[in-house]
Formats: sequence, structure tokens, C-alpha cells
Amino acid sequence: MNTQEIIEKKRDGLAMSQAEIEFIVQGISNGSIPDYQIAAWAMAVYFQGMNERETGELAWAMAYSGEVMDLSAIEGIKVDKHSTGGVGDKTTLVVIPLVAAAGIPAAKMSGRGLSHTGGTIDKFESIPGFQTEKTYKDFIEQVNRIKAAVIAQSGHLVPADKRLYAIRDVTATVESIALIASSIMSKKIASGAQGIVLDVKVGSGAFMKNLAEAEKLARAMVAIGRAAGREVIAVLTDMNQPLGKMVGNALEVKEAIDTLKGEGPSDLTEISLNLAAHMLILGKKYTSFTDAWHGAHEILLSGRALVKFKELVQEQGGSLDYTLVNYGLPQADIKERVCAQQAGYITRLDALEIGRAAMVLGAGRRKIGDSIDYAVGIELFKKLGDRVEAGDCLAVIHANDTEALHNGRNLLQNSFKIADLPLPSKELIIKVI
Ligand code: URA
Repeated sequence: MNTQEIIEKKRDGLAMSQAEIEFIVQGISNGSIPDYQIAAWAMAVYFQGMNERETGELAWAMAYSGEVMDLSAIEGIKVDKHSTGGVGDKTTLVVIPLVAAAGIPAAKMSGRGLSHTGGTIDKFESIPGFQTEKTYKDFIEQVNRIKAAVIAQSGHLVPADKRLYAIRDVTATVESIALIASSIMSKKIASGAQGIVLDVKVGSGAFMKNLAEAEKLARAMVAIGRAAGREVIAVLTDMNQPLGKMVGNALEVKEAIDTLKGEGPSDLTEISLNLAAHMLILGKKYTSFTDAWHGAHEILLSGRALVKFKELVQEQGGSLDYTLVNYGLPQADIKERVCAQQAGYITRLDALEIGRAAMVLGAGRRKIGDSIDYAVGIELFKKLGDRVEAGDCLAVIHANDTEALHNGRNLLQNSFKIADLPLPSKELIIKVI
């Protein structure tokens, strides 16, 4: 088989055969296809798309490009969640302990943040001492003992996605429905859970900027998961503004703990309860959504989810002081307020720009392997629709470097728009598929 002919075929809008897809995935994993041909192929897919069969076959071939986890040694129905990527999205830190506290095993493998979107592993690693690497045996044993574990995805899992994603990230080919769906679902299939809840983000801070595209992505992922014999629910949620009020690793851990104490922002609490309820249904704890939501709510209010979070942190070597306001998480040296220049209503709070501002401060990485500063980020004091007076504090920047502070401040200031009249509020949970 010839890579150039396969690129040509896709460039001209023709569907690839299963053998051609497997050939490309094999060449990505074993290094026999060079970066420039992979980039050309990804760009052809970006413009021409893939049909449902091709997308499913790509996901499947990628899932089996490396190790596939066998979670059968974990008792019960294993459930997982995955977000397509957003800004301030710390739901995993709330949802995993919540579901585990209900007795449903949550064996989670997560990724690191890239570009303007955050990653769960970076957030957990901002907890002093927290270990995200575990042997397979220890991972299974921990889930059986406390029902929860969150570890970094092993390099042996889905190697094809690792290389393809790094190339897509620098060739403007991330925002392709076929490539995102196969990337995410290959990892979900390889990580072994029987039930998967997908949080598909829609809006400026998401890869899918509009509802129609996000819905196509959600349907593509659900179809791949079901064809692989998994139960899958996709929840479309708003990502035009950051979720919650904190953006940046340690700041987001603090907000997640506040939420587990019942003192979190309403949007984060609402999405977390919704996702947890769907996971409890997939875990066969409840049959109706209303019962599952009330069950999740009761666990949150009772403090059992917080107890489970503490257990998870301790189990993985983390050390926090829950008597302190910031729980002993790393703190930035510089804290600077950004104030409103005029009175009015917040009509824009662009998630993408805030994500970029956090990245410039050092909270995210431009490319795989960059180091990050766990302490820095942005604390929002106002959200979309809020009334402000001139001089009111809109946000506080947490920084450790004056040049980064300067650049981050400019981006942050541009992300806010204040107008005389408020805009109608957008729904947070848009649709369930
Ligand atoms: N998250 C992934 O894991 N893959 C993508 O392609 C996009 C978001």
C-alpha cells in the first residue's frame, strides 16, 4: 500500500477502505510514515471529513494500536467520563469522588492540558505529593479498595493517538469531527470502562464553536462507543465562558474542593451533578435521571463525596490541609486586580481568550513537554450577565512573573465586554444524546 495514494484519495473526497485506515494507523504507531505525510493526511481529513464507517474504523484501529486495559478484575460496572476540552473545567475532580461515594467504581485515566484547554492530570499534580503514575496492579487494587483512582494515561495506551495528536496540534488540524471523535473514543475503548459519559463542550472555548457541529461530534462518538459494545451518553454543555470562577491548576483544585463542600459556583455544581447522575445510571445504581440526580445531590450535601476526595488524595500520596483557606495548594506571589472601566452588564467573557491568558501566565503548555506553573491563573469575580459598576473588580490575576502578568492582563481585559443591557442567558446543559 502507498501512503501518497491514500492521501490523494482522501484529498479528492473519497472514502478510505478499512485496510487503508489500518495501514495509516500502523504507520503512525511504528514510525514508518513521516510527520509530513501524516500532516498532509490529517489536513485532507480535516477538509473532506470521514463517513461513519471510516470514523469508527479509525477509532478502533487506534484503540488497538497499543495496550488495551482489562478492567475485569474490578468489581462492578466500571464507568468513565470524558470532556472534549474546555476552560475552567474541573468537573472530574468533583464527579469521580461523587460517583465513587455512591459505590460505583470510577477507574479514570486522564490527560494533560494542551493549548488553551486544561487537563485533569495537571490539576491533580498541583496537589503537593499527588502521584498520577501507578502500575496496572496498584491501579486495579486501589479502585477495588476505595472505588476511585485517577492516573495519567500510560504511554503504551493508544500510541497512534499520541503521535497523531501532537502533529494535529501544530498543523491546525485539531478541529475535525472525525479526528476528535476517533481520538477520544480510541482512548475510551482502550481504557476499558463499560459506561462512558461524554461532556461535549460547545462555544468559544471549545473545539466545536456551534451547536450543530458539537451535536455531530457527540453523535459520532456515541455511535463509535455503542458499536464497540459500550453504553454511552453525551451531554452537550456551554463553553462560551469558563466553567466556575477559577482557571489555573491549583486554583481549580481549590474550587473543586469548595464545590465538594457544597460551597462551589452554581454552574460547576450543576454540570457535576448532571454528569454524575448519568454515570450513576450507567453504573445501574438508578434507572431514572431524577432519582440519580437526587442521589448525587444527597451524596454531595452529606459530605460523603468530600470524604471520598480526601481518601483519593491520600491514597495517591497527596497532602492537603483542609483547615486552610487555600488547602495548602501552591500560591502565586503576585495578585493583581483587573477592574471594570465602565458600568453595565457583562455581555462577553470569552472562554478562549481567558484560556489563552491563563496559558500565557504559565498555567498551560504550548507544546507537549513544556513545564507549567501550578499556582498561576485567573480568579473571576464576575460572570456573563452580572451587573458591574465602574471600578468593580472583574478578576484577579495570579502570576509569578511580571512579563507574563503584563501579557496575560492584556488578553484578560480583551475577553470582557460590558454593555448597557444584558444579553439573554444561555442554557448551561443544552442537550443529552
Ligand atoms: N481531546 C482529545 O483527546 N482528542 C482530540 O482530538 C480533542 C480533544
